[in-house]
Amino acid sequence: MSELYLGMISGTSIDGVDAVLVDFGDRSCRVVEASTTPFPPQLLARVRRIVEIPQTELRDLGALDHAVGSFFADCALDLIARAGVQREAVHAVGHHGQTIFHEPSGSEPFSMQIGDPNIVAATTGLCTVADFRRLDIAFGGQGAPLVPAFHAWCFGAASAARAVVNIGGIANITALQPGRPATGFDTGPGNTLLDLWVRRHRGADYDRDGAWAASGRVDAALLAAFLTEPYFSAPAPKSTGRELFNMNWLDARLAQHSTTAPADVQATLAELTATTIVASVAQAVRECKQLIICGGGAHNGDLMTRLRRLGGISVDTTAAFGIAPDWVEGAAFAWLARARLRSEAGNVPTVTGARRAAILGGVYLSSAPKPF
Ligand SMILES: Nc1ncnc2c1ncn2[C@@H]1O[C@H](COP(=O)(O)OP(=O)(O)O)[C@@H](O)[C@H]1O
Ligand SMILES: [Mg+2]
Repeated sequence: MSELYLGMISGTSIDGVDAVLVDFGDRSCRVVEASTTPFPPQLLARVRRIVEIPQTELRDLGALDHAVGSFFADCALDLIARAGVQREAVHAVGHHGQTIFHEPSGSEPFSMQIGDPNIVAATTGLCTVADFRRLDIAFGGQGAPLVPAFHAWCFGAASAARAVVNIGGIANITALQPGRPATGFDTGPGNTLLDLWVRRHRGADYDRDGAWAASGRVDAALLAAFLTEPYFSAPAPKSTGRELFNMNWLDARLAQHSTTAPADVQATLAELTATTIVASVAQAVRECKQLIICGGGAHNGDLMTRLRRLGGISVDTTAAFGIAPDWVEGAAFAWLARARLRSEAGNVPTVTGARRAAILGGVYLSSAPKPF
């Protein structure tokens, strides 16, 4: 069997749209072509503004939903052209969009993504599956993380316990233990605070290879102050985003701390990411034998070194399993579109805390309707 699906997501880092064309077999998949396309500067500024200061006119929100939808559609068409496949050969698009607000707890929980899927369907002419998170929330879940079902499908067949660690803007783990359902949750900041701090002090989008963090020294008192954040000790299910871990969060903690050199803050933030991941794995996985890393953090050599040192277990990237770390999340949304069309569960209730497994996503069809 061979079935092409195209998955797309722009994560909390807002570094661009990952578009991944995946060929699914019965129990395996292969990335056919993939790309990350940064938002054009003006669109990036609009997306960042709404994420960083979540206040806007409804008209601007509607227009941004349209603009982001158009951009995702272009990314899909570009990828199909690059892959040299017939557009009709693509079964469906799994379209996550861009999260602009994630509030999974409280009396009126929600998770909000923009990038109108109607535009993706109309522009690409392809069946588009979107709005993956909200049915899980309606069933009492966090609506996140949603990648664990795919992680379990892809990386789960092992005799020893392992954890898949996705280090995007936010980091999340999937615990894969033989004979047990997958568990997992967001561990807290992945790259997001590292990105914000290096942007403020060095004007760079990110700390390439973690070189700046590696040049600094961990401030133990500052790390301890970071770790008092209640999110880290809260029980799963839990998920988080830039609503919590943002510049205000960091500035508030730094304000209560005697001065630390910027490079030392960066080192301490890298240690925070590594420490919270390792502590989460220790809590979620009995006798974990292996960490399998994906997401942009897999390219951060300093972060990988910290994980190896703190975890004391083997650390590989998903490349060792045939999927480059940059494409796992996009591939997961291709997989989720496939699950939707097969009427299979997209969520893992032991991860999200939903009352039950659910078929996730709304289907947006572009095909011509039958006549009356
Ligand atoms: N070579 C690199 N060195 C250090 N960090 C990197 C590198 N490449 C990517 N990253 C980090 O990965 C982030 C993007 O990761 P990604 O998995 O796309 O996150 P998200 O899902 O939040 O978009 C970047 O913002 C950056 O912090
Ligand atoms: Mg990204």
